[in-house]
Amino acid sequence: MVQSPRPEEVLSFKQSLALQQRFQRAIPGGGHTYAKGDDQFPEHMPPYIVRGKGCHVWDADENEYIEFGMGLRAVTLGHAFEPVIEASRAQMLHGSNFVRPATIELECAEEFLSIVTGAEMVKFGKNGSDATSAAIKLARAYTGRDMVAVCAEHPFFSVDDWFICTTAMDAGIPSAIKELTVKFHYNNIENVEELFHRYPSRIACVILEPEKEVPPQNDFLHKLKDLCHTHGAVFILDEMINGFRWHIGGGQAFHNIIPDLSAFGKALGNGFSISALAGKREIMRLGGLDHDRERVFLLSLTHGAESHSLAAALAVMKTYKSEPVVETMWNQGKRLAAIIEKTIDELHLQGFVEVIGRPCALVLATRDEHRKPSQPFRTLFLQETIRRGVLAPSFVVSYAHNDEDIDRTGEVVYEALCVYRKALDEGVGKYLVGRPVKPVFRKYR
Ligand SMILES: Cc1ncc(COP(=O)(O)O)c(C=O)c1O
Repeated sequence: MVQSPRPEEVLSFKQSLALQQRFQRAIPGGGHTYAKGDDQFPEHMPPYIVRGKGCHVWDADENEYIEFGMGLRAVTLGHAFEPVIEASRAQMLHGSNFVRPATIELECAEEFLSIVTGAEMVKFGKNGSDATSAAIKLARAYTGRDMVAVCAEHPFFSVDDWFICTTAMDAGIPSAIKELTVKFHYNNIENVEELFHRYPSRIACVILEPEKEVPPQNDFLHKLKDLCHTHGAVFILDEMINGFRWHIGGGQAFHNIIPDLSAFGKALGNGFSISALAGKREIMRLGGLDHDRERVFLLSLTHGAESHSLAAALAVMKTYKSEPVVETMWNQGKRLAAIIEKTIDELHLQGFVEVIGRPCALVLATRDEHRKPSQPFRTLFLQETIRRGVLAPSFVVSYAHNDEDIDRTGEVVYEALCVYRKALDEGVGKYLVGRPVKPVFRKYR
């Protein structure tokens, strides 16, 4: 028996609930990215977004939300950020795609290399997976080896088989592919060492994010790079989330380490589709025309140089250089973390709810009455925040989150955590409406 008012009695989701059926009928998974799927949100509250501005979005029922983790962490400057839109629009008027490279490709490449200073060459793609998968292919070609070592604690590197084969959703992937990817643990250098010994001269590369929620300890990144080089493997950093967030130059600049290859995407386009594979000339040039080794078919996409996305990326990079984007994200994250931590203390939720990660990339851990990670409690938190106008699968901030947005979010979190406290004491079933959310990577429905 649910005692709190049903969420749909507070905000109306009438239009969204009607759209949900059509989404499910037309699109496998009910959307084009699993992380945005219905199973990731409370059952009776599936807002479909119609428009966004800054860090605010409006759904099909005209409900307004303060949004976090915008565009799966891609939109760091805010939705419909004028200088990016304007640059992209202006470029569109000159055409989008030609039979020969456009000059803007060079302009964008040189600008990127002036920011990611450890890289000597760069090639653009559209999705992050284009870049990480190209890095893997290049590493395999460069080393003449087949195996790949991926960081076990980092949840996603690519939509392609070399990575998806490590998840529970590995249907359709040949077992021969699965045998080629192995996992290592972050901050555990002995574990990587052991892998290199178990598979002598077989591991082409190691790939990881510079940092996720746990920072490198004991000089892990530098030791890992050295270990890779000792064993003839390529050291790859996935900068999809760290890039243009931890630091304008990514986690590699933040941690002062130069990878052999790195992959950027997300924030580089502020919602426009662009990714980048960057790295050492000695490796990258295998995808080029000026060497005598066997040639590598490296990132050759019809839309790879779509000029209005390159214009968007140029405007993004210019904004990062001229405005305090990174500093603001860190500051606003700190402000929000402090507010939430105060609430956690006040409501005696230590050990049940925890703000984790760097201020520029906060997530909230939700645990049950036994302090175990809990999907029902996560769902309850989402339910109670969404119904109050905050859409926060994470608390990853953007440059657009101002003090007022952060403080309002703090109030909403306070109210949501009051319900969370009661649910811990009285049972989550009493407050949760509908089924809990589920992990994206699972075998069956
Ligand atoms: C760390 C990381 N690497 C790679 C990717 C893949 O990027 P995309 O979805 O643009 O292909 C993602 C996407 O979420 C990611 O978070």
